[in-house]
Amino acid sequence: MDTQDHLDQLVADAESAFAAASDGAGLEQVKARFLGKSGLLTERLKGLGALTPELRKSAGARINRAKDAIEAALDARRVALREARLHARLAEEALDVTLPGRGHAAGGLHPVSRTLERIEALFASIGFIVADGPEIETDWHNFTALNTPENHPARSMHDTFYLEGREDVLLRTHTSPVQIRAMLAHVARHAEAQRMADLRVIAPGRVYRVDSDATHSPMFHQIEGLWVGEGVSFADLKGVIADFLRKFFESEDLQVRFRPSFFPFTEPSAEIDVAFMSGALEGSWLEIAGCGMVHPNVLRFGRIDPERYTGFAFGMGLDRLTMLRYGISDLRLFFEGDLRFLSQFR
Ligand code: DAH
Repeated sequence: MDTQDHLDQLVADAESAFAAASDGAGLEQVKARFLGKSGLLTERLKGLGALTPELRKSAGARINRAKDAIEAALDARRVALREARLHARLAEEALDVTLPGRGHAAGGLHPVSRTLERIEALFASIGFIVADGPEIETDWHNFTALNTPENHPARSMHDTFYLEGREDVLLRTHTSPVQIRAMLAHVARHAEAQRMADLRVIAPGRVYRVDSDATHSPMFHQIEGLWVGEGVSFADLKGVIADFLRKFFESEDLQVRFRPSFFPFTEPSAEIDVAFMSGALEGSWLEIAGCGMVHPNVLRFGRIDPERYTGFAFGMGLDRLTMLRYGISDLRLFFEGDLRFLSQFR
């Protein structure tokens, strides 16, 4: 039978074998070597049967103590491995809560969009609703229905982009064709009524002309206005426009001038100029819009009776209004997408 030394050696072997196991699975394999069904310690227990009763008792007690010691060592190693695993995981997943956050760069509206929203809000406050129309427009809406028949010299005022192989459609050169669309839709809605309700719309959008330099872009933005009703006069036009411009530029002493001009779709027609009484542009007159009383032919194209109803219309350059409001001298900055420029308007 084994001496105590042999058992001590066995316990010491088990302890060092457990210590050498580097993970739970390895440890369970080592455990089988000592405590398994045919493990080293189990073999000793089996050997007890061959001993005399007295010897068996004391030898059994020694083997059981060795077994307890090996099981204790196993448990200790299990706990140690579990803790090591936990620490490794904590170290790996550590968060440095003192690091500054990545932050979200705040986006912002394009300056032309800001202008547009301001204008829409100002006109909404006096009962105008927003209308729109297609950018690929029919020649009829863009010219003919706006009292500009074929071969009319006014057609050459616009450098039009046509679509290849098509003569009936083009890229709209102005937002004025929305006047026609808005009138036709309005009349259709009031077909049954004794008296047509006033039509008050503004129509912002992109327009296109063959033109490109510091103050002209082949694509630019306009906003069209139209008010048709019974008794609408040029005085109404002047009041609405002057009021709008003073609010838009936030300047009570802004000077507004209506200068006689020509557009085929209005009669009489005028160009609208403004002059600032302070700031870099002080005292100089700047042209910002065209306007006039809607031509009777245009009302007729919109199926509105010019004997009964009158109206005024105006068209403004949104980009130009934005340049004036923010003091920007090159139109191209709006369309280059350079964040150094755009982020100033956040
Ligand atoms: N459509 C004209 C242009 O682009 C601007 C304009 C002038 C619009 C007079 C109007 C108007 O509604 O009445 O040059």
